[in-house]
Amino acid sequence: MTVTPQTQQRASQLRQQLQEAGYAYYVLDAPIMEDTVYDRLYRELQELEERYPELIVADSPTQRVGDRPAERFTSIRHNIPLYSLENAFNIPELEKWDGRWRRHLTASTTEESAEYVCELKIDGSAIALTYEHGILVRGATRGDGISGEDITPNIRTIRAIPLRLTLENPPPIVEVRGEAFLPLEEFNRINQERASTGEPLFANPRNAAAGTLRQLDPKIVDRRRLAFFAYTLHLPEATPNPPQSQWQALEYLQHIGFSVNPNRKLCQSLAEVETYFQQWDSGRKSLPYMTDGVVVKLNSFPLQERLGFTNKFPRWAIALKYPAEEVPTVVREITVNIGRTGAATPMAIMEPVQVAGTTVQRATLHNQDRIAELDIRVGDTVIIRKAGEIIPEVVRVLLELRPPDTQAYTMPKNCPECDSQLVRPAGESVTRCLNSSCSAILRGSVVHWASRDALDIKGLGEKLVEQIVEKEIARSVADLYELTREKLMSLERMGEKLADKLINAISNSKQQSYPRVLYGLGIRYVGKTNAELLAESFPTIQALSQASVDDLESTYGIGSEIAQSVWQWFKIPANQELVGRLQAIGLNFGSEDSPDVKPMGEQLLAGKTFVVTGTLPTLSRQEAEALIKQSGGKISSSVSQKTDYIVVGDKAGSKLEKAQQLGIVQLSESELLERVGGKEKG
Ligand code: IVH
Repeated sequence: MTVTPQTQQRASQLRQQLQEAGYAYYVLDAPIMEDTVYDRLYRELQELEERYPELIVADSPTQRVGDRPAERFTSIRHNIPLYSLENAFNIPELEKWDGRWRRHLTASTTEESAEYVCELKIDGSAIALTYEHGILVRGATRGDGISGEDITPNIRTIRAIPLRLTLENPPPIVEVRGEAFLPLEEFNRINQERASTGEPLFANPRNAAAGTLRQLDPKIVDRRRLAFFAYTLHLPEATPNPPQSQWQALEYLQHIGFSVNPNRKLCQSLAEVETYFQQWDSGRKSLPYMTDGVVVKLNSFPLQERLGFTNKFPRWAIALKYPAEEVPTVVREITVNIGRTGAATPMAIMEPVQVAGTTVQRATLHNQDRIAELDIRVGDTVIIRKAGEIIPEVVRVLLELRPPDTQAYTMPKNCPECDSQLVRPAGESVTRCLNSSCSAILRGSVVHWASRDALDIKGLGEKLVEQIVEKEIARSVADLYELTREKLMSLERMGEKLADKLINAISNSKQQSYPRVLYGLGIRYVGKTNAELLAESFPTIQALSQASVDDLESTYGIGSEIAQSVWQWFKIPANQELVGRLQAIGLNFGSEDSPDVKPMGEQLLAGKTFVVTGTLPTLSRQEAEALIKQSGGKISSSVSQKTDYIVVGDKAGSKLEKAQQLGIVQLSESELLERVGGKEKG
């Protein structure tokens, strides 16, 4: 089939419309198209590209998310180093910097009236983008400023970064630097998700952004909506009419398709800079992203050139930082909180204080080791800080203020909720209550079951769950489905209408998808994403519960800790019983004929074990493995005597070497496709 000129034209028109709508939405924050219209055009383009793959171009809006996770990132050298900034912690330090750069210039050329550009210092991660002939060809982390890592597939998922510059005649090469960051709402969402899976929380948006950028799987990066502000532009020497100042460069960046922070200011004096700094000290608290200071840059490029760099910093710029809010208070009590997974977290209850705009009176002390390390005692005066202005934590103890007769803290031996013994497994930092009918664990698991990303039962919040568990109206999530109006009416502030509504909402949750149910079970490490990945590979709960640790581990995206945790969960009789009950109630536990996993006729590879390694010409590893499994084969992640075949792609490494030593049969992608009955991709 050849593509008609009309089709070609339509595809190019769709690309342009979608690109313009995306720009308006993500960069200008001023949408010009209804979501539904966008979705319709997007799907039309996707369908055209599926039918005529020759229509696909790298900068098509459909090509943002790659499907192939990287094995690792390659290190690359930056064409131009990424410098960092000298810090000033107060106005006098800023004034000293101003005196320094002035003195650095020879006496005859002292600049009396320099202009300054003030930009907000966004708390994210600096990245470097390279455009060749207007097309994004590379995105890299800052690294040590000289070399970084090539994270192009991850960068492509950031909607505020254009895949193509909006320039008629783009220069052969354009380098753009800026800050990739997680808006606070997104940061909170990710941390909530991590809390629900028992993963450690990100301390601040900067760590979260850096961690996200270095995710090997671009699909995961895509789900965490990173944003971006551009602030540095490098054009080739020969570019006609280049910007002459930072202010012009920022406007140029915006003009060629980047989002540039709108809260910038061109200042005519240091006094104006100081006013800007003070204004944003309170202003920044209502921004949807974290800022930890102001970056002050001399505006004129010729002036910047004359000043140049020290070995670390530009002489023409400085970061003026807001003081991290650290506040002293007194610890009144240390309590232990039992979470949904039974983890016992010590918490400091303190004299209430204002930190970064909110009243704080509880702070996590993480675990016994952390308490011992800081030697936090009841009665101590401590300094608390809101990490990333979100999660309060104790930074240190003011020992000089310690009252006499304090005692070192040790965790209680028994669960404060159910009195069963707390256990700290060897080599772990977490102490746990192992009693699965502990009311704290029960409360936590019911709240999790009802939460938005799980069964999404509206109206079943923490307060209500507390009562339900306390009055023993429900002892497991399965009991929720047997609640009656009468039973609910015994709760405080419960009327008939509300009771009926709740029963209805609970009953409706039976319509929720299998991945949501799986997530709702609250298996350790099985967050929303992992639940989706598991459901993709194990279409029913039966298949999942019967999977071996090896089967689980060879699932795309599932690591060994998750595999162990899932396997262990299904071994526990109480969990098996719960699943059985929920199944009988009618919750969705997947089905054999979900589209991904249709049994594919003959089981041509039954009983054979495969290892897939390297980059295959057309299939992603996930697709190749799915094909093998559909034909009855088994996947293993490592080569051993038990391996029957190794499917080899480009850049295969140590696995291939080992297979050669063991004399294992090698297959190319096309040989694999032949063996599974000539199935094609798609
Ligand atoms: S300019 C030579 N501008 O702060 C120019 N940096 O402490 C160096 N940052 O690595 C960078 N917002 O990650 C610049 N408007 C801004 C910034 C900014 C945040 C970060 C950036 C840099 C770090 C230096």
